[in-house]
Amino acid sequence: QKEGYDHYMLKEIHEQPMALRRALRGRIDAGIEVPAWLLDHPDGVPVRFVACGTSYHAALYAVELLQKRGISAQASLASEFATSPPPLVDGSVVVGVTQSGETADTLGALRRASEAGARTLAVTNVVGSTAARECDDAIFIRAGPEIGVAATKTFSSQVVTLALLAERLADADTGILQALSTVPDALQYVLDHTTAPQVARTYADASAYFFVGRGVAHSVSLEGALKLKEISYEHAEGFPAGELKHGPLALVTPETPVFAIETGDHSDRMRGTVEEVQARGAPVVAVTHPESAVAAAAETVLPIPETHPELAGLLANAQLQLLSYHTARLLDRPVDKPRNLAKSVTVE
Ligand code: M6R
Repeated sequence: QKEGYDHYMLKEIHEQPMALRRALRGRIDAGIEVPAWLLDHPDGVPVRFVACGTSYHAALYAVELLQKRGISAQASLASEFATSPPPLVDGSVVVGVTQSGETADTLGALRRASEAGARTLAVTNVVGSTAARECDDAIFIRAGPEIGVAATKTFSSQVVTLALLAERLADADTGILQALSTVPDALQYVLDHTTAPQVARTYADASAYFFVGRGVAHSVSLEGALKLKEISYEHAEGFPAGELKHGPLALVTPETPVFAIETGDHSDRMRGTVEEVQARGAPVVAVTHPESAVAAAAETVLPIPETHPELAGLLANAQLQLLSYHTARLLDRPVDKPRNLAKSVTVE
């Protein structure tokens, strides 16, 4: 059922525009369905997300969107939350982001939250999953089945679903709904015009790969690095761009390409980051709109069409998914079944 694709991962990357149309259907005009207790939760009590891996990166993306709307939010790695739960005040809400709905660490964190009196919401792909059944409510991301161990279309569907949720909780029109309706076509454009195979070839001998960004692009930098290490077994790290000078800059050399993800709202500061790493001889790949100042300063560009800055991260992420895929192919890795990993991690 790979429908002509060599791997499920590539098929699932290409299914993203369709998956996003499904995630958005009926939810732009009417607003996404949200439990009343979440709409009414006390101001100032943070919306807490718990998740693992790629789902954690989607949760970090959501935190940025909520905070931009004046809603206090935090994301925790589920394994940490379960072992060291934060104090939960009355009216606390905990949102478990889990594609499978079966990840033991996330279920453990949700159970701890529930025992402590919090209301829990599952944001999941699987109707009838343990998370959907055990939480007080569930919202479905409608990505369709994902077979490849690397999460791709489920990340995009999580981000879109959480963007709808953020806008509903904010109860104000920030322009993101109109932009969301154009995102499936913009993503299709990225997939049709990507230069990721050439970029993968150029840097196939790199000693390590670094990804940097600010705001939503920080979560995308973490996700870009996770995808690359997971399926290519190459050393990759994602950093908030501002943190480079506090340590990671010592790792930067001419053998370590730096992928600078710029979504349109941190251009000046990202330009500074680009100069910082170029001064250490590192080649820079800008993942951004081709007209941006960051693109002009970089050696190479993985271009994305202009869109709402809060959604540009999704388009940049698709370029990074393709970069990982093509790097893993060049290195002859078993793309759909990387060593030591399982699709669903059902042990804590
Ligand atoms: O099913 P979940 O979303 O709860 O899975 C969480 C992680 O195990 C998962 O996202 C993992 O990081 C992916 N394999 C990354 O591609």
